[in-house]
Amino acid sequence: MKNESFYVTTPIYYVNDKPHIGHAYTTMLADMLARSHRLLGHDTWFLTGTDEHGQKVQEAAEKRGVPPQEHVDTMVKRFEELWERLEITHDDFIRTTQPRHTKIVQEILQDLYHRGEIYQAEYDGLYDVRSETFVTEKDLPDGSSIDNLPEHVKKIKETNYFFKMSKYQDWLIKYIEDNPEFIQPDFRRNETLGFLRKELSDLCISRPKARLAWGIELPFDAEYVTYVWFDALVNYISAVGYRRDDEMFARRWPSQVQLIGKDILTTHTVYWPTMLKAMGVEMPKTIFAHGWWLSGRDKMSKSTGNAVNPLEYADRFGVDALRYFLMSEMSLGQDASFTEEAFVKRYNSDLANDLGNLTSRVLKMVHTHCDSKVPVACEIKEGSPEADLWKHVQTAVTEMSTQIENMRPDLGLAAVMAAVREANKYIGIRAPWKQAKEEDKQPLFETLYVSLEALRVCSALLYPVMPAKMMGLRTQIGAGEAEPAVEDVKVFGKLVAGTVLEEGEGLFPRHQKPKAPQQPKKNKKAENVVTVEEIAIDDFFKAQLKTAKVLEAVAVEGADKLLKLQLDVGGEQRQIIAGIAKHYTPEQVIGKMIIVVCNLKPAVIRGVESRGMLLAASKGKKLTLVTVDAEDFPSGAKVG
Ligand code: ME8
Ligand code: MG
Repeated sequence: MKNESFYVTTPIYYVNDKPHIGHAYTTMLADMLARSHRLLGHDTWFLTGTDEHGQKVQEAAEKRGVPPQEHVDTMVKRFEELWERLEITHDDFIRTTQPRHTKIVQEILQDLYHRGEIYQAEYDGLYDVRSETFVTEKDLPDGSSIDNLPEHVKKIKETNYFFKMSKYQDWLIKYIEDNPEFIQPDFRRNETLGFLRKELSDLCISRPKARLAWGIELPFDAEYVTYVWFDALVNYISAVGYRRDDEMFARRWPSQVQLIGKDILTTHTVYWPTMLKAMGVEMPKTIFAHGWWLSGRDKMSKSTGNAVNPLEYADRFGVDALRYFLMSEMSLGQDASFTEEAFVKRYNSDLANDLGNLTSRVLKMVHTHCDSKVPVACEIKEGSPEADLWKHVQTAVTEMSTQIENMRPDLGLAAVMAAVREANKYIGIRAPWKQAKEEDKQPLFETLYVSLEALRVCSALLYPVMPAKMMGLRTQIGAGEAEPAVEDVKVFGKLVAGTVLEEGEGLFPRHQKPKAPQQPKKNKKAENVVTVEEIAIDDFFKAQLKTAKVLEAVAVEGADKLLKLQLDVGGEQRQIIAGIAKHYTPEQVIGKMIIVVCNLKPAVIRGVESRGMLLAASKGKKLTLVTVDAEDFPSGAKVG
């Protein structure tokens, strides 16, 4: 029972600050983990909340001329509303001003004081108002000194209370070394061990009320309030019944994973474990510190005003696309850069192109050729393209669960997208538009059924990241309206033949690339590159036609008909834009030996340069590439 319980926490965010993409990220990550574990049937608990005491809150409340409690009651709504908008499914939201928390903090303090873990002493030194911490001379920024203090650092001399943190130093080092999973990733563990090589001092856990009144009063001295960190860290246990509900506490604690950003590594891997040790409480299994979201290359900060607002992206691209981007773009532990360009690029290639296209082409054919019903089920024959596709889909299933375990959701998502691309490739191989013309419709039905099955599994794997969109997709393919069941992803043939499918909306409409280079003058001919005008015979010989091998192919952003191809023309690389995206996926053209007009004037199509034109035959809505009918034929050969 115990090993099947999963308790995940996020930091409790400073209630005073406006939530930005960094806060949204940690919370979405926790949400994805929580949703994945719920699907696995684990006894899951997901906690987030807000940190509501301290100097900055007090000052902000004074500025607004309202009591601090009223101030935080107003400010907390921004977090609560954001989590609702971002489809966050936390089980509890703790606020450090709630009596269920303040009372437990006081009980802990009283107990530690009583047992001699907390003592009173005189502090004579420096205090950093900004970070609300005591600092030493070596912590001062360059250019300042004890005689020339920066504005936010003050000399103070006061009596305070201290927690005997130093006495746990040796224990902590050993604990960290003996339990490598305690601090993750590994390089963060080394960072903490590096910090612990220096002598650890005791932790000042009080602030005189004369200086700061907005905090939890010390139970043994009413002249003081509790230092914010000693108060805030306790949330992880006060929220799950420590000293209040033994049954609940035993069920939830120790937590499986406490997610934090790298900024708060020391408080979580030095203060927190020593506090727990003094209290006689078990350690959390893992403290996982992820990296930093940067604004381009720069640190995101309120003062420079470059913090990304998650709501803006949720409004423009949809919540699920935002969740997908954040989860797939950051390799956990490392920093990642947030730019609109990277966002649109990933959105268009993974969601609009690969997944969106797969869904719309399969569904379109099911509606046209199968009377809007899930076609008759089939079996997978060994060695067939179906077997090959199913193997890729099952690789995605294993990868996703392994990578969630490894805390690398980006790799899990990449495996799912690889399976989606395989499905597109499979459709290219089976060519259901051709199968639809045959008398015997069975092969067509099989192709569509297998494609729907691939979509069913992929949508289940993507569900914890894009819950609303994937539910939408699942409804459209007839997978039902219940949450996907984990055991079903390993089984072929779950979709029930004959299920009636409703036509739905496109999932991920393409987005224009931001600040696209100036569009060239509308040039119908250049854009419609597949149209070959009628010409005289001597005109024909002016054209230099050559064989060319397609090395790379990608969709052109903002143009659903165009593919950008990189060609090898006898050793020379060329880029051309071809209007074939409605007929070929990028994967289908890669490796093909095609024919290009090499001496065509370069053109700029949708802001992208095109040097040449490929030959294709088209009639009505049909189009096929002119290719070379010999294997291993060299590129760059003259045609004509
Ligand atoms: O530190 N990139 O709260 P906080 C990634 N109240 N994550 C980021 C980020 C960024 N640019 N910016 C913030 C506090 N985060 C304390 C915590 S816990 C007992 C008390 C995320 O509002 C990341 O999780 O400053 C980071 O650790 C947290 O927000 C800090 O939030
Ligand atoms: Mg911070």
